[in-house]
Amino acid sequence: MSATIIDGKAFAAKVRGQVAEHVARLKGDHGITPGLAVVLVGEDPASQVYVRSKGKMTVEVGMNSYEHKLSADTSEDDLLSLINQLNNDPGVHGILVQLPLPKHLNEDLVINSIDPAKDVDGFHISNVGLLGTGQKAMVPCTPLGCLMMLRDHHGSLSGMNAVVIGRSNIVGKPMAQLLLGDSCTVTIAHSRTKDLPAVVRGADIVVAAVGRPQMVPGDWIKPGATVIDVGINRIDAPEKGEGKTRLVGDVDFDSAVQVAGAITPVPGGVGPMTIACLLANTVTACCRANG
Ligand code: GUN
Repeated sequence: MSATIIDGKAFAAKVRGQVAEHVARLKGDHGITPGLAVVLVGEDPASQVYVRSKGKMTVEVGMNSYEHKLSADTSEDDLLSLINQLNNDPGVHGILVQLPLPKHLNEDLVINSIDPAKDVDGFHISNVGLLGTGQKAMVPCTPLGCLMMLRDHHGSLSGMNAVVIGRSNIVGKPMAQLLLGDSCTVTIAHSRTKDLPAVVRGADIVVAAVGRPQMVPGDWIKPGATVIDVGINRIDAPEKGEGKTRLVGDVDFDSAVQVAGAITPVPGGVGPMTIACLLANTVTACCRANG
């Protein structure tokens, strides 16, 4: 038996379509155009790709995109001053500072200087606290995208056993909070977890977010489980020719697809949903800012 493939690319296109309709109504009925500011410090090639893609999709759904590219040696004061300017700009409803930041910048300080109401990443300590206590928060985009796919596939998640592999602030921890909010029994596994295969085998839902290529093999997966693969890892692909590479997830797709009930592919699974949720969060921030 082969698993149902959860098509994140198609789902994300649908979400972006809904965002575009919402943006058109905000413009037509209220004369408001949501605006998203993205700040990139330095020249990290992967971050440059993400930021370009975010800008392009922001414009495609009819929103204003503001890109601020700063040199790698930008001082903390200059970055904080830009964020302060964006916080006070009524045309900017969402602010995203692309991570990771260069080492000399204090990431916590920078993130917590963003107005929580404009924190479309959901990384500000206020939003983390609101999410953790089940209150209305800006929810981090990648876990939100995963939750939307799980709800779409299952309807209710109530009572399911979920394992989140990875404990990052960006994905693992907020993912666990969201699953708990949907009444799953949640385990967060990490590098020190004892007998990870046994922990994963007990799960109806597996969310893999560790950043290690193909580390979860099919024989760890409970037959029929739903597997959400957050990993995006580039590995060598000599079969495609010398020097060629390909993208793989944290799950070994070829073996997992034989066992799982449903699985997200890489690419085309979680990745496209992250940007769609960022756009949706920006519209939400805009609506809240305008009552
Ligand atoms: N770097 C990797 N993922 C993310 C994300 O979701 N938001 C930001 N700001 N930076 C990232």
